[in-house]
Formats: sequence, structure tokens, C-alpha cells
Amino acid sequence: MANEQKESRRTSSLNLSGKTALVTGGAGLLGPEHGVGLARYGATVILLDIIEDGLEEARQRVLNQIAEARVETAVADITNQASLERVRDEFEKKGMQVDVLVNNAALNPKMMDCAEGAISGTVEDYDMVLWEKEIGVGITGIFLCCRVFGSAMAERKTGSIVNIASDLAIQAPDQRVYSPTGRMEDVTNFKPIGYPVVKAAMLGLNRYLATYWAHKGVRVNALIPGAVFNNQPDSLLKEVSRRVPLGRWADRKEYQEAIAFLASEASSYMTGQELVMDGGRSIW
Ligand SMILES: NC(=O)c1ccc[n+]([C@@H]2O[C@H](COP(=O)([O-])OP(=O)(O)OC[C@H]3O[C@@H](n4cnc5c(N)ncnc54)[C@H](O)[C@@H]3O)[C@@H](O)[C@H]2O)c1
Repeated sequence: MANEQKESRRTSSLNLSGKTALVTGGAGLLGPEHGVGLARYGATVILLDIIEDGLEEARQRVLNQIAEARVETAVADITNQASLERVRDEFEKKGMQVDVLVNNAALNPKMMDCAEGAISGTVEDYDMVLWEKEIGVGITGIFLCCRVFGSAMAERKTGSIVNIASDLAIQAPDQRVYSPTGRMEDVTNFKPIGYPVVKAAMLGLNRYLATYWAHKGVRVNALIPGAVFNNQPDSLLKEVSRRVPLGRWADRKEYQEAIAFLASEASSYMTGQELVMDGGRSIW
């Protein structure tokens, strides 16, 4: 009993004080929320994005939730190694070495962007320029981030990489949710093939690098989030919710604690794994 009491009072390993965490795609929908999760447990956060516009607003979104957060921003293209090395060197000069890398940037086609009746995302007409871009960001980009920041972690013999995959990394998109009739025959706006392909590839990279760097103290894990509510059309909201055992979409804040868990020593005996948080969608 005395031991149990002592145990319950031990310091939590869900602690990122003194750590620097870099979140790619930091100006997007989820990047700032990952920043909040990391800042809440004491990390200094760097939000990195290819676009400067939106980065300051993203920084404010973190500060609105964690007033005392330390949040930096950086502009870089993750498909360009030199651009990433510049960011790494600039922050190292300021005494900040990246201890946690969250590979969150992606080309994430929002399905509501397609005009009603327009045809998009078909395999037959899939734009090869888009295919190359998706592979560039979703595969080459995350590899380069791991190469630049992960190798530095390996040299220092400590670090954690969190790869943001998708439920579409482990299951096929059910295109019927985009159909006006619910029938596959009537779908005109398809979730493009590039997205699930790069997300599945991410899991291969996740396992490869986990074993490659395990003996150097760097852990590599993936989060598999489900669809996040962002004012999608009602019909889509309803169709997806029906396919989720919890009966709803995720709130954008619901991954914050998982990111902190994967980034910190709270997950110290975990590497190469996939944490599925999809409201149960993939088990149905
Ligand atoms: N939103 C969802 O419903 C959902 C669900 C499951 C998984 N995810 C995954 O979560 C992550 C974040 O999703 P989101 O909805 O916030 O996406 P988002 O499109 O809002 O943000 C992605 C960000 O990545 C940036 N980016 C793109 N190319 C880049 C490059 N070359 N270099 C640097 N930055 C670049 C974009 O500028 C953008 O700000 C993605 O990996 C996505 O696949 C999202």
C-alpha cells in the first residue's frame, strides 16, 4: 500500500521540459494543435511550413491555448534538403536542437473543394504532376526531415519522431461517402489515390527508421488519426459518422495528448508502432 502511494506520486514521464519540438505543416489545420500538445508539457515548439502566410496565426493559436508557450516559426520546403538544413543550423545557432520531430506536413486534398458535379480524383485521369507532388511531400519530404533532424538526434543518442499518418494508411477510402446516392456508380469526386499511397508508405518508413535508430536512442512512431471535423458538408459529415463506431468526426484538439505521449518518455518502450485514433472506424 505504501509502495502504491509512493508510485502514484512519482513524477510523470509525460514531460517535455527543456525539449525542442519541430512540427512540419505547422500552419495547417492540425499543426498548431500538435504544437499545443507539445507546449502543454513544456516543449519549445517550432512550427515549420512552406508558406509564411498563416504561420503567425498558427503561433497565436498555440498561444491562445497555452499563454506561456514558447513558439518559434520557420519557413522551409520539406522536399528540399538544403532548406531543412538551413532551419536546423539556424536553430542550432540559437542553442536549440530538435529533440522531437512531428512529420505532419502533407498534401491533404479536402474533399469539399470539388464543385458539385465536377469529376475529380479518377484513377484513369489522375494528374501525374499531382502524383509526383504527393510523393514528393508525403514520401520524399518526410524522409528528408528524418534524415536532417533524425540523424542529428541519433548523433546525440536521444530523440523521438512522430509520423502523422491517416486512417487511410490502413484502410481503403470508402468512396461511397462522396456519392450523392451512396452508390459507387454515382461517385464523381474521388479521394485521390496518392493520399492513401503515401500514408501507407509512411508506415514502412516508420518501421524502417525505428529499427535503424533504436540502438541510438531515437524512437519512431506513427499516429493514425481519423477524419477531423472542419465544417464539411452535412451529407459527408453524416455518411462518415455512420461508419465510425463512436458516431462522429474527431475534434481537432483530440490528438494533442497522443502527440505529447508519443513525443515524450511516457512512450519510452514504444517504437515502430502505430497508434490508431479513428473513433473505431478501422475495426468496422
Ligand atoms: N484533417 C484530417 O481530417 C486528417 C485526418 C487524418 C490525417 N490527417 C493528417 O494530418 C496531417 C495534418 O493535416 P491537416 O488537415 O492539418 O492538413 P493541412 O492541409 O491543413 O496542413 C498541411 C500543411 O502542410 C504544409 N505543407 C505542404 N507541403 C509542404 C512542404 N513541401 N513543406 C512544408 N510544409 C508543407 C501546408 O502548407 C499546410 O499548411 C496531414 O499529414 C494529414 O494527412 C489529417
